[in-house]
Amino acid sequence: MSKKNLLFIPIILLAIVLFSVKNHVVDSEKVYATSNLDAKIEEKVDSVLALMHLNEKIGQLVQYSGKWNATGPSTSKGDQHKLDKLKKGEVGSMLNITSVASIKETQKIVMEHSRLKIPLIFGYDVIHGYKTIFPIPLGESASWDLDIIKQSASIAAKETAASGLQWTFAPMIDVSRDARWGRIMEGAGEDTYLNTVIGVARIHGFQGDDLSHPNTIAACAKHFAGYGFAEAGRDYNTVNIGEYELHNTILPPFKAAAKAGVATFMNSFNDIDGIPSTGNKVLQRDILKQNWSWNGLVVSDWGSIGEMIAHGYAEDKKHATQIALDAGSDMDMESYAYEANLEALVRENKISIEQIDDAVKRVLRLKFELGLFDDPYKYCNEEREKANIYTDEHLAVARDVAKKSIVLLKNETNLLPITKNLKSIAVIGPLADDKDAPLGNWRAKGEYNSAVSLLEGVKSVVDKNTKVFYEKGVELTIPTVKPGENQFLHPLKFNNTDVSGIKAAVEVAKKAEVVLLAIGENAYQTGEGRSQSEIGFFGVQQKLLEAIYKVNKNVVIVLMNGRPMDISWAANNVPSILECWFLGSESGNAIADVLFGDYNPSGKLPVSFPHNVGQEPLYYNQKNTGRPFSPKHVTYSGYTDTPKSALYPFGFGLSYTTFEYKNLELDKSEILKDGEIKLSVEISNTGTRDGEEVVQLYIRDLVGSLTRPIKELKDFKKVMIKAGETKIVNFTINSEKLQFYTVNKKWEVEPGDFNVWVGGNSEASLKGVFRVVE
Ligand code: NOJ
Repeated sequence: MSKKNLLFIPIILLAIVLFSVKNHVVDSEKVYATSNLDAKIEEKVDSVLALMHLNEKIGQLVQYSGKWNATGPSTSKGDQHKLDKLKKGEVGSMLNITSVASIKETQKIVMEHSRLKIPLIFGYDVIHGYKTIFPIPLGESASWDLDIIKQSASIAAKETAASGLQWTFAPMIDVSRDARWGRIMEGAGEDTYLNTVIGVARIHGFQGDDLSHPNTIAACAKHFAGYGFAEAGRDYNTVNIGEYELHNTILPPFKAAAKAGVATFMNSFNDIDGIPSTGNKVLQRDILKQNWSWNGLVVSDWGSIGEMIAHGYAEDKKHATQIALDAGSDMDMESYAYEANLEALVRENKISIEQIDDAVKRVLRLKFELGLFDDPYKYCNEEREKANIYTDEHLAVARDVAKKSIVLLKNETNLLPITKNLKSIAVIGPLADDKDAPLGNWRAKGEYNSAVSLLEGVKSVVDKNTKVFYEKGVELTIPTVKPGENQFLHPLKFNNTDVSGIKAAVEVAKKAEVVLLAIGENAYQTGEGRSQSEIGFFGVQQKLLEAIYKVNKNVVIVLMNGRPMDISWAANNVPSILECWFLGSESGNAIADVLFGDYNPSGKLPVSFPHNVGQEPLYYNQKNTGRPFSPKHVTYSGYTDTPKSALYPFGFGLSYTTFEYKNLELDKSEILKDGEIKLSVEISNTGTRDGEEVVQLYIRDLVGSLTRPIKELKDFKKVMIKAGETKIVNFTINSEKLQFYTVNKKWEVEPGDFNVWVGGNSEASLKGVFRVVE
């Protein structure tokens, strides 16, 4: 054990002794939830708390950023200020400091200078991998494979922890239905159930079952709440939703996260119905901490406490501090509000010491759970750092996850899979040999230009006699963010009109048997602050596409993007389209696995693809309305100039084989509210290749005390079915799948008629009916 730890032990012992004489002050105003608490940890938490002075308590509620990697307007007061505060033990956490050496150095400041030596907790946005980069979360969600999603999060955790960090600000579990919103790339898409199960898988992956294990890190359920419903898809914008939408659509993934034991929550920038989430007491205190009995730590989003001034909800930072702490925001990320104002607010009796203690306990609890009090440097091991990051083993998993995240949208002429011994193949497009874009936004320590490009992936698998031509054709019009550049200050240019490269691209297209055309978006077109009013191919990509298609009909579009795009022209013309998102470090290899048939694609869309941007927000589980759209009533609840339905619906994705669904059977036609129905369905692989299918179960409650969606995903199973084989897949329908947040403000099953569908996408037509009785 190191000298510093030996020094620290007497402090803890003293704390425990003191605890036995001076018990922790009990909150007299409110009863906070205390379920699932570990008594031993609570005893230690209380004993440390009893030693703390007010300034040290407030310090635990302060989180500073390292000055690099700022993800918002920099409010930094400079390094000297931070250093002084660290020495005084007036900082609880740091974000954006990475590497064992830097973390050790920063932790040392606190351990050597501060009075109580309470270790810092270090956080970082590890959204889809640390250095080994996995597909962007939206893409990974297209795998509908909870095991590999968990595995990718656990590898991310292992690499993050090996770098000395203990906390990621992920998963984002904001249901998001608007393709214009740049942050749609960060979550699991438009559906509540899918966000719920994927969010839980990611939390389990990050946290494992023991936070103190050196390979696990604390996760963070964000952004609480409603951020994905930003009006018109403009980032940070107002959210206008009612109470029932909040409970039925937005909160379930968060409730499941709390239940799964996620260590932290982050609140959100937006206001809902006039109240900024950071200052929302109902959300944070009543629902999260009280009703859900959740004992973790709520961190504000970057500067969001101070931003309540701009919202017009707080007069100044002092007012904002009072509102935020009172509402249950425990830790101040980069607003510099708590450190400046909490002490005065306590003295003026505007914030009670019990409220401060409750917040501080949440911070201390997490630090004990992570094992930081036992050894503040336990995550700091240079050997482990060298051995555990960006390993071949991790890259192999990244390739596996990436190939499973690819969605085959169209394959009309069975152009795919391509044989490896073609005479010639043209790889064309601005993304064809891009080694950076596949890393996507929020790539943590993913190294600039480190991904396997499509061209590299293709070259590594084709026959040695196959000629591979390459032409870029056109430039993606947004310059790539270079290492060290702050992407938030990066210019966006959409006005590139240079078509001079198209000619050469057309020439190689003419010579090739098949063209792989890699087009889509730049990595930084989606992500925070990257909302767009148009979702088609920017720049002159469409011109390139049409010019190529004119001379060669065997075109496969390899789409790389972070949001659902308007690809209508391509869908109407080009024979094959492969949705490849931003697939991470192993992108090119994974795409080649699918293109050449080494892997039969099994991904399904976690978001609807529209015919055009005017349909946004677009999602499958809409309400019927009083005038439902139908072939007879085409003017009802639709558009006169565009279809109402999606171009490619939620849950959709093709395979190189075909599946047939039949014989949906229910073991009962009527159940009590707490009863159970067993459903079985036959799925046959009617093609000639083995393949995996995501079998999806949708339910509709026909009449409710509140209007109900036309259908809702309630379960799914991913099954491998051999060519020619038939499998029976079983589901259980129970109250969990039938209940909703009713007009009684409770989760209830209401009696009445229900429809159930099973199929390979949200437009499934194989249907059953049943009735729930009192
Ligand atoms: C702002 C983002 O909204 C949030 O998701 C992120 O975790 C923080 N910045 C920290 O980088």
